[in-house]
Amino acid sequence: MRKGARDGSLNLHIRLATKEDLDALLNLENICFKEETFQKRQLKYLLLKARSMVLVAEIDRNIIGSMIILLRKNILNARIYSFNVHPEHRRKGIGSSLMDTALDKLEKKGYKNITLEVGINNQIAWNLYRSKGFIVDKKLSNYYTNGDDALHLIKKLG
Ligand SMILES: CC(C)(COP(=O)(O)OP(=O)(O)OC[C@H]1O[C@@H](n2cnc3c(N)ncnc32)[C@H](O)[C@@H]1OP(=O)(O)O)[C@@H](O)C(=O)NCCC(=O)NCCS
Repeated sequence: MRKGARDGSLNLHIRLATKEDLDALLNLENICFKEETFQKRQLKYLLLKARSMVLVAEIDRNIIGSMIILLRKNILNARIYSFNVHPEHRRKGIGSSLMDTALDKLEKKGYKNITLEVGINNQIAWNLYRSKGFIVDKKLSNYYTNGDDALHLIKKLG
């Protein structure tokens, strides 16, 4: 049987990020994305200054997944801004666990909607989002700097 988050055979721990995680988050970001990666100062802002919730997934104290969620004062809409799992640890249920943790925390905090944008060709992420109940709200033409379109997805909570 494949080792995975779902059967508990991975020593997976999902927690809120702290300022000590900045370098590991930056490293993961650079491994996971070829284009439109965050600079260190942007990640630092998202982690420490922005109204956000940053989750990390770790195995044996190594950060192998993350999710950055943007929040706004007095608005019960949360936006998933960044979401990734280290390539060597994909397809083990870690992304799914990160998403379940985020949805659970946001619902407990009273958030009503969760939104995100996904590249129109990112079938893998779209599969995950669809399985979690996200639906297409609208298409965003020319959304990425390389000209690719995106889909704006929404999930209602509660
Ligand atoms: C999207 C991403 C976070 C998924 O993480 P993951 O840990 O591999 O996902 P999981 O193992 O939890 O899989 C959850 C679901 O995603 C879908 N999925 C994951 N990998 C897939 C693959 N290779 N092919 C098709 N569907 C896939 C499936 O629906 C899967 O559910 P299932 O295993 O029951 O079939 C990861 O692929 C990633 O980091 N991709 C690069 C960054 C990215 O595209 N982020 C999203 C930006 S919008």
